[in-house]
Amino acid sequence: PDIHRFKWEVEYKFWSPDCLENSVMSINGRFPGPTIRAKAGDIIHVDLTNKLSTEGVVIHWHGIRQVGTPWADGTASISQCPIRPGESFAYRFLVDKPGTYFYHGHYGMQRSAGLYGALIVDVADGRSEPFHYDGEFDLLLSDWWHKSVHEQELGLSSVPFRWINEPNSLLINGRGQYGCSLAAGTCKFNGTEQCSPQVLRVFPQKTYRLRIASTTALSSLSVAVANHMMTVVEADGNYVEPFDVQNLYIYSGESYSVLIKTDQDPTKNYWISAGVVGRKPNTTQALTLLNYVSVHAAELPASAPPATPRWDDYDSMRAFAEKIRALPHYSYAPPPSRAHHGIALLNTQNKYNGQTKWAINNVSLSLPATPYLGSLRYNLKDAFDATPPPEGFPTDYDIMVPASNTECTVNNGIYLLKLHTTVDVVLQNANSLSANTSEVHPWHLHGHDFWVLGYGDGKFVKGVSDRKFNLKNPPLRNTVLIFPYGWTVLRFVADNPGAWAFHCHIEPHLHMGMGVVLAEGMDHVRGIPNEALECGLTANAKVLMDTKR
Ligand code: C2O
Ligand code: CU
Repeated sequence: PDIHRFKWEVEYKFWSPDCLENSVMSINGRFPGPTIRAKAGDIIHVDLTNKLSTEGVVIHWHGIRQVGTPWADGTASISQCPIRPGESFAYRFLVDKPGTYFYHGHYGMQRSAGLYGALIVDVADGRSEPFHYDGEFDLLLSDWWHKSVHEQELGLSSVPFRWINEPNSLLINGRGQYGCSLAAGTCKFNGTEQCSPQVLRVFPQKTYRLRIASTTALSSLSVAVANHMMTVVEADGNYVEPFDVQNLYIYSGESYSVLIKTDQDPTKNYWISAGVVGRKPNTTQALTLLNYVSVHAAELPASAPPATPRWDDYDSMRAFAEKIRALPHYSYAPPPSRAHHGIALLNTQNKYNGQTKWAINNVSLSLPATPYLGSLRYNLKDAFDATPPPEGFPTDYDIMVPASNTECTVNNGIYLLKLHTTVDVVLQNANSLSANTSEVHPWHLHGHDFWVLGYGDGKFVKGVSDRKFNLKNPPLRNTVLIFPYGWTVLRFVADNPGAWAFHCHIEPHLHMGMGVVLAEGMDHVRGIPNEALECGLTANAKVLMDTKR
């Protein structure tokens, strides 16, 4: 295989993502970080040096399963210790599946600080995609706040609670415009500004692949290209049965490929827009230009930017989600027909000592000082709570109203899965702390893809709700949405030895405890580099030697 080697340095830098100067987390002085491009079967090797003066750092390779390399997953307190200032860590892993991925910080809220970039895996030599295209563009979507991430984190854990509020800007490839409007022509650019939009220059009568990934901290988005239909062909690195849409719903942690045909009037330019859905928006659409080559790139389109659908049109979001079916392909296998093990996870908003939290089966996740991968491998029983969190919730829990007992517990127990078992997870949404509110949450699983068996309204009822499961061609994903007051069921095979995060991909929600940790097959984990474990109870290498089995 080809080995792609990179030397990266993470540091803060002054940057103007939305034309307003701010501090961002940069990689090798760039924001967003460099795009990694490889072929399926290749090895990525990133030597990451932490040049931040006072914070640790890690990078997670979102969507890459890390088969055989669980220590390279880049999750602080789970797969490794944060890399300390001045120190380095080598991430070396296989990219085994073609697709559209990205990477991002996974310590505190560093993703919100701008630590992210794209990771694209092409098909292996001799293989081909199940569709054709003439050219491609990567669109990495994010949201941006002028308030520093440190202040955001402080607000989230303060009493009284201070919410981060809606983003100041949406960014496409790290570029947005605050204080001027592309659509109204009030932004003046010469093209060299850090916030000037990335223009997609296209030839007429061709097919283009847009690789769209969302690493937003909070926002769910709707993306559209004026006058052009999109054909969805890939989701989270898995091929899907192609279907046409006017707008693409994309939630934090998801990625898609769509094909567009440049078959419109070639003497005009067209807007590409991304706008907020799923929350009452207070942020202007992000815009960029689809520029037909014969037209000047700065010429404003004749038609208006595509409107964002009504923010609470959950029916259309649900309809979109249900259109996604797997494309039978060499890499696809349908799910096992039944599961060995079922876990139901109730998502609630709670209180703990006056703080506002998110809890799963009434447990809000707090990460331990020692990474689970090390404490499990070396049997360090004191490193985290020995009692696993509950695998279900009271059957009489009323999901339609705020919890009657709002208090939750804060804990770091984990779910231990038996290697090679098939696991079903029911993600159950509920009312949050205020009446008549239930939010969307995109749940992301590390280390695995899962099949999405179905969605439903209200409370999941065993023996009834499962009758409408799609077991024939359910899509494989690594991120899936739970709709307000609804449930989502996914199935996966616990076949990847390691310790894995499973959490809401909304950064402030995870920070408020909205996640769980799963582990499987730890007896099979060998070769964890010592540099991954230089903190907490695994800090002392002597301890590791003494307890090594
Ligand atoms: Cu992209 Cu655990 O996250
Ligand atoms: Cu959430």
